[in-house]
Amino acid sequence: MSYPAEFPISNQLLEYRKEHENEDNGNTTTDGGNLAVNVNTSLTIGKRGPVLLEDLDFFDIMQHFNRERIPERVVHAKGAGAFGFFEVTHDVSQYTAAKVFNGIGKRTHIAVRFSQVTFEMGSQDTTRDVRGFAIKFYTEDGTWDLVGNNTPIFFIQDSKLFPDLIHILKRNPVTHVRDWNMFWDFFSLRPESIHQLLIFYSDRGIPNGYRRMNGYGSNTFSLINKEGVLVYCKFHYLTNQGISNLEANSATLIAGQDPDYALRDLYNAIATGNFPSWNFYIQVMTQEQVQTCNFNPFDVTKVWPHSSYPLIPVGQLHLNKNPSNYFAEIEQLSFNPGSFVPGINGSPDKVLQGRLMAYSDTSRYRLGVNYLQIPVNSPNRINNFNRDGFMTIRSQGGAPNYHPNSFGGPEESVRAKLLYPSMELKGISGFYDLGFDDNFTQPRIFYQTVLDDGAKTRLIQNIVNDLKNASSFIQERQINVFKNVDSEFGRRVCVGLKKFCDFTEVDL
Ligand code: HEM
Repeated sequence: MSYPAEFPISNQLLEYRKEHENEDNGNTTTDGGNLAVNVNTSLTIGKRGPVLLEDLDFFDIMQHFNRERIPERVVHAKGAGAFGFFEVTHDVSQYTAAKVFNGIGKRTHIAVRFSQVTFEMGSQDTTRDVRGFAIKFYTEDGTWDLVGNNTPIFFIQDSKLFPDLIHILKRNPVTHVRDWNMFWDFFSLRPESIHQLLIFYSDRGIPNGYRRMNGYGSNTFSLINKEGVLVYCKFHYLTNQGISNLEANSATLIAGQDPDYALRDLYNAIATGNFPSWNFYIQVMTQEQVQTCNFNPFDVTKVWPHSSYPLIPVGQLHLNKNPSNYFAEIEQLSFNPGSFVPGINGSPDKVLQGRLMAYSDTSRYRLGVNYLQIPVNSPNRINNFNRDGFMTIRSQGGAPNYHPNSFGGPEESVRAKLLYPSMELKGISGFYDLGFDDNFTQPRIFYQTVLDDGAKTRLIQNIVNDLKNASSFIQERQINVFKNVDSEFGRRVCVGLKKFCDFTEVDL
């Protein structure tokens, strides 16, 4: 695949030269700003002699280089990002006091990172995978991070299974290749995964770049209005570029030709002024509706049917600026689903609950204790009693670092009550496994009514291509899961597998 020279991503260096052609480039320095003596050759004794320890420039260059890499994200390592704004188009103040949603026409600066979930930073953009779609809103009340995916649901209902889920999606620890026995073993033993698996293997499993897919907050959140009334909500952001997916064979071809296909597409679109946008909606459920809902609204393997909980328009997301440096602004970008602003909060959704602590913890490991001082993560204001640690840049002047004190410093805001409205909770503590509740009603509707005949055939073909690599006892167990969705569906997967596998256990 070759790209014509007019594509901006190919011309970054030419543009740099053009922009700076009349400037004095200055002299080469060390990181300490001292003049570098020679950047091409090491200091030696004679032309053929050994290198001298006095060549401090060499140490400066080499030791910095040795530390260029930081740990990649444990998941969602491969990605692309951009900047833009969120604009309010509709009044939703009856549901939320969040300033980011109040005032039609109001704009809030945003950062967005799209990603693949499973493989490493060097992996291909067109593999079958869930895509991340995370948004950071730099609001006047601090940053709000909506860390979503391109699917409205997820594989599991309890965060405790997240490390297991990721282990089976990634590599076998002995062989270091993806292991289809691990993959299908887990999914066939955890039937709550079936809804997400159907989306994963459907056409939407390989979006055609990041611009042409929807995003969803997926988890259940809450909104609190200025009277302190709470409703539960889901967030949806629907593409204005039109949904487009890649057929499995062309995705494989592109993976070989241009592993950075989705990143390149996003960068070029923005650089040529073809700015992508998404319409932003909420679904709401009152606390009374929660009591009568015929499914668990805090279970992230379930969608909220639009017929009962219609999409309510709120605003639009626009991306209009590429990063000026990938590492500084995208690799160091950090999201935290627990970063809420007054008027928006979490819910008892068990997957969300687990996520609330996971992200700040991993960021402290990946980027360091002061990761929130990195400009791209930094809120518009910060006022507290935390100090010091590696790479401290902000010290909050001479303000006291303890509370209460007699010398000034921040006081708790009355708006903070909109973060944690009081609620009465009742129940017996215990380890409740929801995994064997009703897992099949919604996937059945998806299979029988959302997919047309062609989409069903492609779904089955995609499943067979991967399931054929698992052992027959695992295939059999997974086929029973498919049969619980729809007996014809299970039977067709079985027929597909018979072309590849010589097994008799599975009953047609
Ligand atoms: C089941 C519990 C989950 C846990 C414990 C978890 C944990 C994590 C961790 C540790 C990271 C790496 C973050 C970093 O290094 O900066 C991550 C990234 C991410 N997760 Fe999750 N995750 C969970 C579920 C989900 C769900 C349900 C979604 C979507 C609704 C999601 C969306 C994302 C996204 C988009 C990223 C990438 C953020 C970025 O671009 O930097 N995760 N997750």
